[in-house]
Amino acid sequence: MDATANGNLRQQLSVGEVARRSGVPVSTLHFYEAKGLIAPSRSSGNHRQYSRTILRRIAAIRVAQRAGIPLATIRDAMEALPDGRTPTAADWQKLARDWRDMLQIRIDSLTQLRDQFEHCIGCGCLSLTECPLRNPADTLGRTGSGPVLLNRMR
Ligand code: FES
Repeated sequence: MDATANGNLRQQLSVGEVARRSGVPVSTLHFYEAKGLIAPSRSSGNHRQYSRTILRRIAAIRVAQRAGIPLATIRDAMEALPDGRTPTAADWQKLARDWRDMLQIRIDSLTQLRDQFEHCIGCGCLSLTECPLRNPADTLGRTGSGPVLLNRMR
């Protein structure tokens, strides 16, 4: 722990200290700042300084990133927290619940895509009418019934 001469914990951390404690490179911290995920204050010498709570915020960002949550989604969620606070335990529970649902939708979509690839393996037709990857969700079917492309040529 960083302690002052009188034993008190310093409340502000430098960018290097945040990088060391969070395990996130300084360049990534600057990237997070540019993306609006974190916002340091400035010291009297115009150096970036961070509240200790930034470590929890960065941990939340990293976990969300590992789960594949887009940075813009993470930023929006962080911005929605009152007073731009670091997520509390209750905040994090809610975010995790929302993002779990989002992940499940992505998992279902990827599972469907994988199964469609399995159908294509050994086929190779890339048929507009038969291949689910060439014509996802039968988009032609929504434009009409029967031989849609043939009907267009008439
Ligand atoms: S390549 Fe034939 S179904 Fe996809």
